[in-house]
Amino acid sequence: MSLTNPYLPRQVTVNAVKNESLETKTLRLKLQNWSMSFVPGQFVQLLLPGVGEAPFCIASSPSDQRHIEITIMRRGMLTNAAHYLRPGDALGVRGPLGRPFPIDQFEGKDLLIIATGIGIAALKSLIEHVVGNRSKYGEVTLLYGARFPEDLVYREDMKHWSSSIKIIVTLSKATPEWQGLRGRVTDHLHEINLKDDMNIAICGSPTVMASIVQSLSLLGINKERIFVSLERHMKCGIGKCARCLIAGGKMVCKDGPVFKASEISLEAIGE
Ligand SMILES: Cc1cc2nc3c(=O)[nH]c(=O)nc-3n(C[C@H](O)[C@H](O)[C@H](O)COP(=O)(O)OP(=O)(O)OC[C@H]3O[C@@H](n4cnc5c(N)ncnc54)[C@H](O)[C@@H]3O)c2cc1C
Ligand code: FES
Repeated sequence: MSLTNPYLPRQVTVNAVKNESLETKTLRLKLQNWSMSFVPGQFVQLLLPGVGEAPFCIASSPSDQRHIEITIMRRGMLTNAAHYLRPGDALGVRGPLGRPFPIDQFEGKDLLIIATGIGIAALKSLIEHVVGNRSKYGEVTLLYGARFPEDLVYREDMKHWSSSIKIIVTLSKATPEWQGLRGRVTDHLHEINLKDDMNIAICGSPTVMASIVQSLSLLGINKERIFVSLERHMKCGIGKCARCLIAGGKMVCKDGPVFKASEISLEAIGE
């Protein structure tokens, strides 16, 4: 029996801060005298002393167990406060929490990763893992949609990833100068070599994810092979408070945040 209190955070220190876009920063956190073994798709509860606690996906490679990165989009009180953090600041972390992507099941098959907006933060650890273990996977494609050019994050990382995976970026509100693809991610699904046995990992806003799942189903992809990462309001993060309950009775923090599209309804994905 473990005597560790799951509500007690462990200490981390901000190691580096990277501006990704006007509203988004990535914090590199050093774990103080401890290490974390996690699997892509899991999240942590981040505690800002005097401010509060909120869930964030781990956005770094699981191969480094002494540091984690999290990408934070400015939304309300806690995320605004997080944007003022500087190297050396001390924080608390609980985790890793939640059900991850089934990375072993993904091995040997083609993988399509579909991200929209800040949803790419929930998929970055998976991308880093695949890039770091490239020979274990078949054809890998990242289809990334954002609204404006200035919303695109991980620009430096994408240059690095592009030498081992295919990357398709599309903007739904492109400026006239934008040279790349235009439209929503669902407008570009037909450009991908969809195969019956490929796996698909998705994260984005609820309505967009529901429409992507619907489009993929119409294109004949089995929902058993579609994995969505959901975001819901949370409190405990460990299945005790029911704050994150979704239609169908599952809890996002414990049963997810990664779900097979066959396990939950389209309404639960899009709610
Ligand atoms: C499993 C999980 C992983 C997450 N990963 C990331 C991540 O990697 N990067 C990131 O920037 N954010 C992530 N989030 C969302 C993040 O937790 C919220 O943005 C944060 O809690 C907002 O806190 P706040 O005090 O700044 O804003 P609040 O004042 O609490 O809220 C500001 C606005 O954001 C909305 N909001 C707050 N929390 C959520 C939520 N959980 N889901 C949807 N809308 C919300 C509120 O309705 C409100 O409109 C994740 C959420 C979950 C559940
Ligand atoms: S956040 Fe408490 S049960 Fe999920």
